Amino acid sequence: MNNNVYQRVTSHLVLSAHLNAASNLFGGLLVQWADECAGIFVMEVLKTHHVVTKKISEVLFNEPAKLGDVLEFLCRVKAVGMTSITVECVTRAKQIDREDRLRTILNCDFVFVKIDKFGRPAHHQFVLEES
Ligand SMILES: CC(C)(COP(=O)(O)OP(=O)(O)OC[C@H]1O[C@@H](n2cnc3c(N)ncnc32)[C@H](O)[C@@H]1OP(=O)(O)O)[C@@H](O)C(=O)NCCC(=O)NCCS
Repeated sequence: MNNNVYQRVTSHLVLSAHLNAASNLFGGLLVQWADECAGIFVMEVLKTHHVVTKKISEVLFNEPAKLGDVLEFLCRVKAVGMTSITVECVTRAKQIDREDRLRTILNCDFVFVKIDKFGRPAHHQFVLEES
């Protein structure tokens, strides 16, 4: 695996139940979707369910997502340690009838740690290819 390549992992459609009082996508839900996406990605990379989120970087909401937007969540491995792995997750939004316009609405990093059956950090043995 190369650390410059983003993989599209999940997608979501913004429904009315996902909106806040300002008619934008609720930010907490967006972070939950990004965490889930990064978690799926890291489980596939490390080939295990035994990973936990250790840290979420600063969260900046660049632009709002609106009702009917299709969100795509892309990930890449950003850094690799002994027991941890840092995943960058980018969320892009598009209006389905204006596919030319993709807005990056969220970009944040997640540090995951592989754990053993006692919940202690465990070596994951994953090595990133040189790019
Ligand atoms: C994950 C957990 C087992 C790690 O325990 P810990 O005492 O921090 O373990 P360590 O100090 O050995 O650190 C483990 C790894 O996390 C990294 N880490 C620790 N603190 C960090 C921080 N503030 N920022 C980034 N990485 C950090 C360490 O560098 C290490 O990675 P490395 O082996 O690749 O160098 C423990 O913190 C935990 O169980 N947290 C709760 C996880 C959770 O419930 N998440 C929410 C739901 S998934």
